[in-house]
Amino acid sequence: MTGRFITFEGIDGCGKTTHARTLVERLNREGTKAVLLREPGGTAIGERVRAILLDKAHMDMAAEAELLLFTAARAQIVREVVRPALAAGTVVVLDRFTDSSEAYQGYGRGLDLEAVRQVNRFATGGLRPDLTLFLDLDEAEAAERMGVRPGASDRLDDEGASFMKRVREGYRKLAMDDPERFRVVPASGSIEEVDARIDAALKEVLP
Ligand code: TMP
Repeated sequence: MTGRFITFEGIDGCGKTTHARTLVERLNREGTKAVLLREPGGTAIGERVRAILLDKAHMDMAAEAELLLFTAARAQIVREVVRPALAAGTVVVLDRFTDSSEAYQGYGRGLDLEAVRQVNRFATGGLRPDLTLFLDLDEAEAAERMGVRPGASDRLDDEGASFMKRVREGYRKLAMDDPERFRVVPASGSIEEVDARIDAALKEVLP
């Protein structure tokens, strides 16, 4: 049996990392083999690429270079981890995937969307998630949550509110264009409330 491929998406501070972790822990507790991976990263090569992307010394990074670095890390994780895990019947939960490219580099930075899609198709070999959970949170609320998040900011944390607004709008368009794959999960409220919404959305692909 082939595993299911589930991705989490959303703007910075929407809480998806916490919810993705809770979901994988629950699946494993219930006897469903599941792994949690993150983008960019998840492989030795990907973690090195992540460090380049987040480094504050790289404030002058071209949007095109940014896209290619994210997709380089993606190409590696797909071949090294995601495809083998799916082939072994594991549920793969990935914290960000190709929709992040479209939302951040496409809608956020203004790169040509068709070019962003082409590069991603090449990087992933056309792999598509079975389900994408878009955790939708108002950018002001997300910024507020990030303000209390421990740890220093990195290059990508320093984007302005208008950038994050474009990214959020981008996600909403992507979700509207592909309602089969996307579920829009309101990410405001308590952690338990959002987890319950995620579980309900998941029942459709993991009955
Ligand atoms: P994270 O906050 O989920 O760890 O992601 C790190 C940052 O990288 C976040 O600001 C979103 C950004 N990003 C992109 O801009 N494009 C991408 O393709 C990915 C995977 C992440």
